[in-house]
Amino acid sequence: MEDKIRVMLSEEKVEERIKELGEQISRDYEGKTVHLICILKGSVFISCELAKHITCPVTMDFMSVSSYGDGTESSGRVKIVKDLDENVEGKDILVVEDIIDSGRTLAFLLDMLKARKPESIKLCTLLDKPDRRVTEVKVDYTGFVIPDEFVVGYGLDYAQKYRNLPYIGVVEQ
Ligand code: IMP
Ligand code: MG
Repeated sequence: MEDKIRVMLSEEKVEERIKELGEQISRDYEGKTVHLICILKGSVFISCELAKHITCPVTMDFMSVSSYGDGTESSGRVKIVKDLDENVEGKDILVVEDIIDSGRTLAFLLDMLKARKPESIKLCTLLDKPDRRVTEVKVDYTGFVIPDEFVVGYGLDYAQKYRNLPYIGVVEQ
C-alpha cells in the first residue's frame, strides 16, 4: 500500500530558498573557497542544489555518520561510517545538513571537525525543528524553520524511502 504524503514545502519553494542561501553564501565567502561538507545521505540533494548557486570556488567532500537510536530519534552516540577524503586544516568549511532536530548529531560532528583545525567552520541546514532541540548548535544558514512533524523528501527519508521526492512532505498515518 502506498503512503499518502501531504506537501509541506513545494519543490519551487525549496529551490527558490536554496538559491537565496547560495547567493548569501556567495557574498559572505567572497574571495574564499567554500569547502562544502555534505553529510550523507540526507544532505546530498541540498548540497548539490546549493553548490550550483555559489559563485565563489567550491570544493566538496562527503561524510557519512549514523546515530544509534530508533527510526525517528537520534541518541547522540554518533558513529563515523565514512570519513572525509581530504584534510580540512586551513579550509573554510561549510557543513551542509538536511535537518537539525535534537542537534545531537551536529554537536558531535562540529566538535570533531573543529579539532581538525579548519580556518573557519559554518553550518547550513535546509530545515530546522527548534522545538526538538536538546543540544544547542549555532546555525549560520537556515532554509526553513518547521514545526515538530516528521518530514520526508528532498533527501530526507523514512526507513530509507522518499529521499527522491522533489518536495518536503509529511507522511499521513
Ligand atoms: P539530530 O541529531 O536529532 O539533530 O538528528 C538529525 C538527523 O535525524 C537528521 O540528519 C535526519 O537524518 C534525522 N531526522 C530528524 N528529523 C527528521 C525528519 O523529520 N525526517 C527525516 N529525518 C529526520
Ligand atoms: Mg537521516
